[in-house]
Amino acid sequence: MHKYLVRTLCAAALLLLGCYVQAAPIVIKFSHVVTDNTPKGKGAILFKKLVEERLSGKVEVQVFPSSQLFGDADEIIALLKNDTQIIAPALSKFSKFTDVLQLYDLPFLFNDLDAVACFQNSPLGKEMLDSMSKKGIKGLAYWHNGMKQLSGPKPLRVPADASGLKFRIMSSDVLQAQFQAVDANPQKLAFSEVYLALQTGQIDGQENTWSNIYSQKFFEVQPFFVESNHGLLDYMLVTSNRFWKSLPDDVRTELEQIIDEVTVEVNKLASQENEDAKQLIVDSGKTQILQLSSEEKTQWRAAMKPVWEQFKGDIGANYVDAAAACSR
Ligand code: SIN
Repeated sequence: MHKYLVRTLCAAALLLLGCYVQAAPIVIKFSHVVTDNTPKGKGAILFKKLVEERLSGKVEVQVFPSSQLFGDADEIIALLKNDTQIIAPALSKFSKFTDVLQLYDLPFLFNDLDAVACFQNSPLGKEMLDSMSKKGIKGLAYWHNGMKQLSGPKPLRVPADASGLKFRIMSSDVLQAQFQAVDANPQKLAFSEVYLALQTGQIDGQENTWSNIYSQKFFEVQPFFVESNHGLLDYMLVTSNRFWKSLPDDVRTELEQIIDEVTVEVNKLASQENEDAKQLIVDSGKTQILQLSSEEKTQWRAAMKPVWEQFKGDIGANYVDAAAACSR
């Protein structure tokens, strides 16, 4: 009897030990392509910090910046294969998965980030977070970067100055049409390849935000920038349906709360990050930043805006009209 009791107790102890050993933290790999000192990079670090404060022992976050783990070409596939659990690609990079997000690439759609927030916080904007759900992708939040600026080997004051030049674009047909509209030659290229392509002359120019231009050092290899603010570069923080559903309810709820808080912070700091980056570029003395007159800006808008009609059908006129109304 005594022997039987000892055996039973040992078995129970082993079972408990087994449970203890199994309770390893859930690992969230957050892969992205920019540096830590950008709006998205800072957001990823803040997310890690808050998760490790509030879900200590339950969830561990590993952040992989600068395409260290996955780059533009493979990060969404990696997410679907559960090789990474959170990514935040630029909205331009989802075009293989949905048409509706092409909205955000329409040139001169938003005047500034306030207009962007006005649309993203509207029912239609929020609805778009679910636009890839049938493909297994769950939108968690929008994160701002900022408005894009143009650069090239010569001052790009008016659309005719861009004619014949090769511009790097993200993998978006809207951005392709935008540069074709000014007789330029758009080239889809991964973010990690842009610096070298500019340096070697594979491409002549690019469009990006000040924070990306500064952190990737594009200003070292581009003699002229224009503050064109002609388009938007924002992100969607996404996970896979499969991973999100696999989480215990309490963990998922806490993560949602943390994401809401981090989103507020990222969206607050993005404009300042871009202003600071612009000042650092000016201070470097390595390039020139030109301001466009209102007449020059009108010319760019007139040349690029016909792209809206080309894509309105695919995107949905109701989305385009609602987004445009935020800039009036
Ligand atoms: C990013 O900000 O994530 C990269 C944007 C780009 O590919 O230009």
